[in-house]
Amino acid sequence: MDYLKTKNKKLFINNFDLKKIVKKYKTPFYIYSADQIKKNIKLVQSSLKKSNPLICYAVKANSNIQVIRELKKNNVGADVVSAGELKLALKAGISPKKIVFSGVGKTEDEIKFAIQKGILSINAESESEILSINKISKKLNKIVKIGIRINPNVKAKTNKKIATGTKVNKFGVSVSDFFQILNSKKNLKNIKIHLLSVHIGSQIKDIGAYKKVLKLISKLLLKLRKTNHEVDYVDLGGGMGIPYYKDDKNFDFKKFGKEVAKFYNKQKIKIIFEIGRFLTGNAGIIISKVIYVKKTREKYFIIIDTGMNDMARSAIYEAFHEILPIEKNSKKFNKKIEFVGPICESSDTFGIYKNYSILKEGDLVCITNCGAYGRTLSSNYNMRPLIEEIIVDKKKLKSVRKRQKIENII
Ligand code: LLP
Repeated sequence: MDYLKTKNKKLFINNFDLKKIVKKYKTPFYIYSADQIKKNIKLVQSSLKKSNPLICYAVKANSNIQVIRELKKNNVGADVVSAGELKLALKAGISPKKIVFSGVGKTEDEIKFAIQKGILSINAESESEILSINKISKKLNKIVKIGIRINPNVKAKTNKKIATGTKVNKFGVSVSDFFQILNSKKNLKNIKIHLLSVHIGSQIKDIGAYKKVLKLISKLLLKLRKTNHEVDYVDLGGGMGIPYYKDDKNFDFKKFGKEVAKFYNKQKIKIIFEIGRFLTGNAGIIISKVIYVKKTREKYFIIIDTGMNDMARSAIYEAFHEILPIEKNSKKFNKKIEFVGPICESSDTFGIYKNYSILKEGDLVCITNCGAYGRTLSSNYNMRPLIEEIIVDKKKLKSVRKRQKIENII
């Protein structure tokens, strides 16, 4: 995160001294940098300028309304996967004409709601869903423009739990099923297929996988034109990865932009992206307090007040989120340390470190890169209230979602 800086061994976010922030708020809490979000969206938009796409923010990455509003200021639409996300995006002021709805299990109520709101596209993921949309549209006396998500059977290098683009995954329809659906859809008078979508997974750095997808979509578009089934949009999904380790590389958006421009120049079709992590991932941190230092012969457990219920990525995907002390001590621990949370599971761990700056009980640490799939994956496990979220920009600090009260979750 560019907005996280060390000055005189102390950590600052957007020029705010984290140690001072902690005096105002109870740990643990999330802080998001509005400036970092803005910088991320600018990078995406400038890299993709030549293909002039609609960027839909994948709300599942971070559903804080203020975060969505920051993105909206930069002409961003939304990719939603539930009625809840759709309501949230609308409440944040995003125009329905910039909203796409993905997901394999949209219910009748959700489809009805999306149709009534007149969103840009409901992207269907199965023949059954297409039939259902048609039936609901008929009842509402409407002709609804829909997208179909293609499963391209392209494997992207990423954690298998977040890969979505191969035939073993539940997402989308295969190319052959797609054409079968097209040919048999004659009776479906209340829908019009105006979009093809594809999304091969998340935390992907390899542009090669995207190139394969572009090639396949180009072929599909050609075939569609030949058979008079032209579509207006191609939705290329999201999935662009960010660095979690210090020496990790970022997704090369400039290079990717060139590939997309080539595709656009040939196809002359409107392009949509559904980007989550790249826009918010590096813009969020969690501030946490050391509750106990538990010394064992094997290692020292640094027990912090953030648990896997507050930030589940390490427990679910064994994902690494670097933990930094808010104030560095020049002395180091003489044993390895493991950051763990208070939850009653061994998977409630945030990683092992050697030669770590000494921490005492009551000291503060910061868990980095928690702006995407942090708070949105959190739960009330162990009856712990969801934690507060704060947003900072150059000048101010604002609480945007309060910590839940235990009484309200009983
Ligand atoms: N579009 C669709 C249809 C998706 O399923 C997703 C993410 C996105 C767009 C946005 O992908 P992104 O740009 O954020 O990579 N919880 C996991 C990530 C799950 C991603 C789910 N789908 C994690 O913490 O790594």
